[in-house]
Amino acid sequence: MKRGRLFVFEGGYSTGKTAQSKLFHGYLFEKQTPTVKSATPTPMPILLREPGGTPLGEKIRELLLSDVERTPCADLFLFNAARAELVETKIKPALEAGHDVVLDRFWPSSLVYQGILGRVGLRQAEVACAMATEGLDPDLVFWIDLEPEEARRRTAQRPDGHRFHRPSAEAVREAYEVVMACMDRPVIHVEALGEADEVHLNIVGEYEQWLGDARERLNDSGDKNDICDPDPSDA
Ligand code: TYD
Repeated sequence: MKRGRLFVFEGGYSTGKTAQSKLFHGYLFEKQTPTVKSATPTPMPILLREPGGTPLGEKIRELLLSDVERTPCADLFLFNAARAELVETKIKPALEAGHDVVLDRFWPSSLVYQGILGRVGLRQAEVACAMATEGLDPDLVFWIDLEPEEARRRTAQRPDGHRFHRPSAEAVREAYEVVMACMDRPVIHVEALGEADEVHLNIVGEYEQWLGDARERLNDSGDKNDICDPDPSDA
């Protein structure tokens, strides 16, 4: 069984990241839906979010988004407790069973929000995340990026504000710039200005380009087990 791929959507609040992760999951789902019946079921893509996605993770999420007083370091461990549970019980088994996983936020969020904005330190945040994930990295990151002014305008219209929406949109964007520049996994930078459908088309175009490049690299290397050779539907 070919391993699934892990797609991570990252970005500041009100950039449309959650909407885009749902649209991308829908796109993969449609693409991978078999057109003819087969005896072996096709592993379909799965959509998950952080923090959450497990009974424990959803409880921790409630606590995290509440105003219970705590330090950024305590936040780092809470996010990573939820993450450890999600990785071990959901993400890894899904990938091993051949499902692609689309994840709304992953460890880069901890580097941005706790490591940089919470001043815990990038190195410390990396160590905690590496423990929680046992070194699981995304195959591809979509960094959904939006002008701070527009992000602020959208945030002002949202009813679901919480403590992690307090840092300025500029500070969040700058922290993302730092973290994304250090990523050693492929990152697609997406300008999120415009209608959700347009942004989605842009994302699909970039993804297909990435896929084409990955296939070329595979053909060059002759390695048929590379995780970058995915889409069984259009093989
Ligand atoms: P949520 O409402 O799900 O997302 P958003 O604010 O992007 O609409 O809130 C989750 C918040 O948790 C989000 O604002 C960022 C924060 N967060 C961290 O601080 N560290 C982390 O590791 C993760 C995964 C999220």
